Amino acid sequence: MIQYFNYSLKECNSFGIDVSCDAMVFLESKEDIEQYLPLDTSPFIIGSGSNILFTDNVNAELVKIVMSSIEVVEEDDDYVIVNVGAGMNWHEFVLWCLDHDYGGIENLSYIPGTVGAAPIQNIGAYGVELETLIHQVDAYHIKSGKVKNFTREDCEFAYRNSAFKSSLKGQYLISEVQFCLTKKNHIKNTSYAPLQALLQDKGIYEPSIQDISQAVTEIRQSKLPDPLEIGNAGSFFKNPIIPIDQFTQLSAKHDSIKSYPVDDQSVKVPAAWLIDQCGWKGYREGDIGVHEKHALVLVNYGSASGQGILELSEKIARSVHKSFGIELEREVNVV
Ligand code: EPU
Repeated sequence: MIQYFNYSLKECNSFGIDVSCDAMVFLESKEDIEQYLPLDTSPFIIGSGSNILFTDNVNAELVKIVMSSIEVVEEDDDYVIVNVGAGMNWHEFVLWCLDHDYGGIENLSYIPGTVGAAPIQNIGAYGVELETLIHQVDAYHIKSGKVKNFTREDCEFAYRNSAFKSSLKGQYLISEVQFCLTKKNHIKNTSYAPLQALLQDKGIYEPSIQDISQAVTEIRQSKLPDPLEIGNAGSFFKNPIIPIDQFTQLSAKHDSIKSYPVDDQSVKVPAAWLIDQCGWKGYREGDIGVHEKHALVLVNYGSASGQGILELSEKIARSVHKSFGIELEREVNVV
């Protein structure tokens, strides 16, 4: 266990907001976690800070899990179960899977963040959501210090949501995640139109999982800014889920609106489209802005304050509500 006081968080959040915290603790092993817990109050746990917006200095201690081992714990001819430390970088884990030809995870390539944070918001991209790969999530109960092994069902996964973000919020510290991946007969998902189009452009009609990963990476790189160059946290808002009737009325007025099926009463509409229609794409005031290639990505061009980004996001949400009667809900956690 390593502890630092008055620690700068500038390098610990992908928005690159220059704030600090009272103390930062790095937990490097299960022994460290077992020494640190139990605690009476919830600690502030941070992953790689890729889904967080700091609006001020944090007058508290932050905790970061830096365990990053990978181990095959079970396998047969078709499947493998891999146990991964919560601190492992997400994309490095994806690359490790591709090197071993383990499939299922390739559409989730190049997503910033850590393995431990991934189940909390059930990351998803290009037609695949993390929940389909989860075998088990191991997490320590903060108040008792005891480990619980969560099955996929226990995690209560939903679109960008899980029990760790809702019913059990603040109660558990995720230490390891077990994934179930295919060893052969990979089930490939190229249903997402831009992915299919890029593979076809490349003349790839029977893509390998490595081809899919490469194409996903290229798509992400072409429209999402690299946080090392321009501070951002990916999608700032979730894609809103609206009643089908409301969608029918909207699409009568707007030909270009897209939707993704949810159930027989509702559909998901792209928040990026709504924001773009309101004219925000490429908007900039000082160092705060909306990315020029993707309307759902708020950016820090240098020395933006978190408060400024939050205020811009509120203006955007108000204008979308005024134009379309739809409430945008933040995906990013504001602290
Ligand atoms: N669009 C616009 N203007 C833009 C960008 C997009 O009108 O500036 C429209 C286009 O019609 C496009 C549609 O919005 O077809 C959807 O855009 P995109 O395909 O980029 O996906 P998204 O719905 O904005 C979601 C996830 C992303 C994920 C992609 C790909 C959410 C909130 N976001 O974005 O996840 O990578 O799909 O699957 O669900 C993230 O969560 O941080 C993230 C990047």
